[in-house]
Amino acid sequence: MKLIHTITELRKVLGQHHSPAFVPTMGNLHDGHLALVRQAKTLGDVTVASIFVNRLQFGPNEDFDTYPRTFEADCTKLENAGCDVLFAPKEQELYPEPQTFKVLPPPELADILEGHFRPGFFTGVCTVVMKLFQAVQPAHAVFGMKDYQQQMVLRRMVQQFNMPVAMHTGATLRANDGLALSSRNGYLSETERAEAVQLHQALQGLAHATKAALQRGELNSHILQGLEAQSMAKLNERGWQTDYLTVRRRHDLQAPKFSTETDEALVVLGASRLGKTRLIDNLEF
Ligand code: PAJ
Repeated sequence: MKLIHTITELRKVLGQHHSPAFVPTMGNLHDGHLALVRQAKTLGDVTVASIFVNRLQFGPNEDFDTYPRTFEADCTKLENAGCDVLFAPKEQELYPEPQTFKVLPPPELADILEGHFRPGFFTGVCTVVMKLFQAVQPAHAVFGMKDYQQQMVLRRMVQQFNMPVAMHTGATLRANDGLALSSRNGYLSETERAEAVQLHQALQGLAHATKAALQRGELNSHILQGLEAQSMAKLNERGWQTDYLTVRRRHDLQAPKFSTETDEALVVLGASRLGKTRLIDNLEF
């Protein structure tokens, strides 16, 4: 695997290839990231990963400084997964001057759910992914379903700016008990780790209750809000602080409108804090 720190060097190496397949990450890699790398290997003629902890997408009270940085171990994992090129720019390389031009995603998609609780998050994500795409010029890019709203926002960005990148989504990898793998799981104490699976179970419970009410022909917005509130309360009684636990339409992440369309494809999404650790997850159903 070639380790590259500058855009100039990257262009030189990738110049010989036609269809780079790219997996952007912030490092502290786990099997979920590596599954995306393996997926990328089936797509292009060279597989590129990046590791860059992007300050722009962290809020002032978020974990930018303490975000786990495990560069050596990450390199070994990428190498073993068959990654060809690792692009690991210093902050100075991607942001040599204050980033005053930014990508502003539409509020109806980017100011809801994650964007509501993390203002500016998707602007930070879109801006860095735009810059990484300019550096790598990939033919394919792979993002995880785990960050459901992120991959939707990025797909729309690519579509609306006519960026010549085919976007792919990889399934969420989970631990045996169902907890979605995440770099932030490392923050959890042993007791919190045992409790953490409850977020996944709450999503399953809410999806199940929603489906059952739908099948009985009983579902409307009021009933759904009740089901959402119930599952949030249950989680909070266990000591969680929940930002949202909600059923949305897959195609635009808005609340389903039961009066007009009843058989829409749905997704349940949740974000909740256990102690100091904020976890997110989702399930299509
Ligand atoms: P990061 O959190 O490091 O995630 C990198 C990629 O791995 C994302 O596409 C994410 O959705 C995916 N991923 C995370 N957990 C996963 C799991 N359990 N199974 C499958 N895929 C998983 O997301 C980011 O970094 C950043 O926002 C980034 C896109 C790199 C921009 O800075």
